[in-house]
Amino acid sequence: MIHSVDRRSFLRISALTGAFMGIPNLISASETADVDQIIDRLAQTPAATGKSVIGLTVPPVKQVRVGIIGLGARGSFHTMTVAALCPEKAKIVAICDIRETSVDNMLNALKEKGQKPEVYKGSADSWKQMVARDDLDLIFVCTPWELHAPMAVESMRRGKHVAVEVPAAITLDECWALVNTAEETQRNCMILENCCYGDEELWILNMVRAGVFGTITYGEAAYIHRLRRMLFGYDYYNQWRIRHNLAHDGNLYPTHGLGPLAQYMDIQRGDRFEYLVSQSSIQATLSEFSKTVSPDNEFYNRTDFKHGDMNTCLIKTAKGRMIHLYHDVVTPRPYSRKNSLAGTQAYHEGYPSRLCLGESDEQWIPEAEYQTFRTKYGHPIWDRLKSEIAKNNGHGGMDFVEIYRLIDNLNRGVQLDMDVYDAASWSVVTPLSEISVELGAVPVKFPDFTRGRWKEVRELQILID
Ligand SMILES: NC(=O)c1ccc[n+]([C@@H]2O[C@H](COP(=O)([O-])OP(=O)(O)OC[C@H]3O[C@@H](n4cnc5c(N)ncnc54)[C@H](O)[C@@H]3O)[C@@H](O)[C@H]2O)c1
Repeated sequence: MIHSVDRRSFLRISALTGAFMGIPNLISASETADVDQIIDRLAQTPAATGKSVIGLTVPPVKQVRVGIIGLGARGSFHTMTVAALCPEKAKIVAICDIRETSVDNMLNALKEKGQKPEVYKGSADSWKQMVARDDLDLIFVCTPWELHAPMAVESMRRGKHVAVEVPAAITLDECWALVNTAEETQRNCMILENCCYGDEELWILNMVRAGVFGTITYGEAAYIHRLRRMLFGYDYYNQWRIRHNLAHDGNLYPTHGLGPLAQYMDIQRGDRFEYLVSQSSIQATLSEFSKTVSPDNEFYNRTDFKHGDMNTCLIKTAKGRMIHLYHDVVTPRPYSRKNSLAGTQAYHEGYPSRLCLGESDEQWIPEAEYQTFRTKYGHPIWDRLKSEIAKNNGHGGMDFVEIYRLIDNLNRGVQLDMDVYDAASWSVVTPLSEISVELGAVPVKFPDFTRGRWKEVRELQILID
């Protein structure tokens, strides 16, 4: 399929590559390239600047010395979860936030838990001093999206492992920066995709590997969560999240549903995302809702939100599997990450979780049989950590399992459950979907962040121990 570049397309591509993608030299003003060529160029693999971190292990870290950047809703939650693992498995050495009160409140809460970290606060760059310390092993990045990659890259350059909130990066350049920096520094860069640790998700993963689904053919994933009141409110620092909805149309938050599906499908471990096409609906809810907020709200009575109410992506994998991915944070409808998975022998649908098996007559299996499957294929970690999960039950317990695994794997010197290639290939859906939407649902290829090594069949660490 060849499209010639008229002036309008040229301007649209230039805007994408320059402003959003961060690749100013991708197309020069004198060049007459076609859209396909430009999109192909986006998927090209730059020369490696380091050594692959596939299978990276580091010597055991008996007590992981932690620094945390961003003490808002998520970062303060993670801080208290790490505190629950102190002092046996971890120590909170330093905390940082641009807002002094957030740091002071966290310091008080930590003192009650016997942790007395150093504090960094008050300026947008305070975190740089913190990550330069030589007594830290691991940095958590829990700030607004646009700060994730710069903070993670600098932390790795300063010799630290990083755990980055979702999405790990928001431009193609940033995805490559994470990969290249991890390879140059041989540091771990784990995306904090807590949904990969859900009881239901780990159960499905176990069933997939045990062959219950037969050959995996397709799946559906989503982030459907009505956040419109929060988007306009002041819970998010400087209303950072709605600014992304103002400026971008695509899937802004792809990984909660996609991460588990990618693991079911062996993405980066035998298969890979090959290309996507994306479309968005009209934008209507944000502008209608904006009329209802206070006139002194910066987003009062605006009609210039770019993000359509619903964004959908269709992703094709190298092995021909298909994923239908949804993103809707405004419509009044129930929360869902879909969590649907189809195979030749079984089909699962989430919200609520139901299972249909080969010859079960197009019906969901009855509750008693479903429970038998839950027991037979449930991941043992949920049983093993039962009492701790009961005390630290954020998002139903999966947040605790996530942080426990991160710290415990470092304690034992084994691979982390997710690596920088997962972080990049899941997060890059955001810029690729924006390009596809902008250019009229054209197919956009994924870069191969593993530089060819996705073909190697590797088991996830969470299924090894
Ligand atoms: N995995 C999940 O389930 C989940 C849930 C909620 C949020 N998140 C992610 O966590 C991240 C944070 O979200 P949130 O809801 O906590 O937002 P938030 O606005 O509550 O917190 C962000 C924090 O970053 C701080 N910050 C901003 N600029 C800074 C800087 N230069 N230096 C230091 N601190 C700075 C802010 O003061 C604020 O405390 C986002 O990436 C979000 O997507 C993930």
